[in-house]
Amino acid sequence: MPAMEQNLRVPGPTPLPMEVREAQSAPMIDHRGTEFGELLREISAGLGQLIGTQGDVLLLTGSGSGALEAAIVNTLSPGDRVLGVSIGAFGDRFAKIASAFGADVERLDVAWGTAADPAAIAAHLAANAPYRAVLLTHNETSTGVTNPLRELASAVRGAPGDPLLLVDGISGLGAMPFEMDAWGIDLVVSASQKAFMASPGIAIAAVGARATSAGETARMPRAYWDFGEARKWAEKGQTPWTPAVSVLYGMRVGVRRLLEEGREATWARHAAIAGAVQAGLERLGLQLVAAPADRSHTVTAAWVPDGLEWGPFNAAMRAKGLVVAGGQGAWVGRILRFGHMGAVGIDEMCDAVRVMGETLAELGHPADAGAATQTMRELYESRALART
Ligand SMILES: Cc1ncc(COP(=O)(O)O)c(C=O)c1O
Repeated sequence: MPAMEQNLRVPGPTPLPMEVREAQSAPMIDHRGTEFGELLREISAGLGQLIGTQGDVLLLTGSGSGALEAAIVNTLSPGDRVLGVSIGAFGDRFAKIASAFGADVERLDVAWGTAADPAAIAAHLAANAPYRAVLLTHNETSTGVTNPLRELASAVRGAPGDPLLLVDGISGLGAMPFEMDAWGIDLVVSASQKAFMASPGIAIAAVGARATSAGETARMPRAYWDFGEARKWAEKGQTPWTPAVSVLYGMRVGVRRLLEEGREATWARHAAIAGAVQAGLERLGLQLVAAPADRSHTVTAAWVPDGLEWGPFNAAMRAKGLVVAGGQGAWVGRILRFGHMGAVGIDEMCDAVRVMGETLAELGHPADAGAATQTMRELYESRALART
């Protein structure tokens, strides 16, 4: 099955709209010329609007994990006390990166499949010696859970020592409500291959004033990821190192599309699509991992039904062109993850749920694919009507 004909429902990389594909195949330009400067400035300014920040929006060449590392090394020093709040595999990764660079990381692990509780975080912060930084995940892609970030940020803001708040926003930014400055977030990272609808290769770091001044005294080693360098070159409309120019072409289209749609409309579309997918999967008889209030608008995780082996189930779906993701860490083989972020519409979602339902039935797990897709369309249309 050629990649272009797949129904790519992993939680990133997300499908590329045709105009993004066309933009990404445009001729190469000089990354030290004026045309590149316009490209860089337009994307950074657009992202600032989408994220709700007056801070610097730096575009780095690398994957999202690179930006997580950049967030750590540009704000902290070895020995700094850091609280890593983890609700899944990506929260674990953020904390691990901080440890690797010598931070004194204390972990606050929340059971996988659930969100962090702002009151519990506030109580933990109040009862312990001050931290230099708190690490949070906005949307935990490994479990399909969204943290109540606004409330968590408010708990961190009132904490002793006024810790920095560093956020992994990789699979939420652009698709779900996010107000960096208003919520008091010091630094957030994301990546081109998620809600921004471009190929992998560009990482985003939005850096607020407190994180910038933390960088002046931070002593962790850094070279490629040095925000000081990135900022200095961005002022000239350039990047310190050769950037992924073609991915930036695609991101410009993605960011323009998001701005044209409007933040609230994009967030509402993702909420409506997520609601429809979640109802459809439940109608197939699947049990979702997260409680309704914690469910992500960009990725849904469901338990693999008892008696069904993930390997053959996944292979049978892939043979029909439906590509979903499996579980991570301790949940390999136990859950499936269905991505719905970026250029998502109800038709591809219904098609994916239909294929999943038909595959389940073929493997001896009766599922009514027709009823599931009908439920999805009705729900989506009722929400679309409510939005008009
Ligand atoms: C929440 C979250 N954090 C971090 C990452 C890692 O990003 P990357 O794979 O681009 O390094 C991902 C990727 O899926 C993610 O969803």
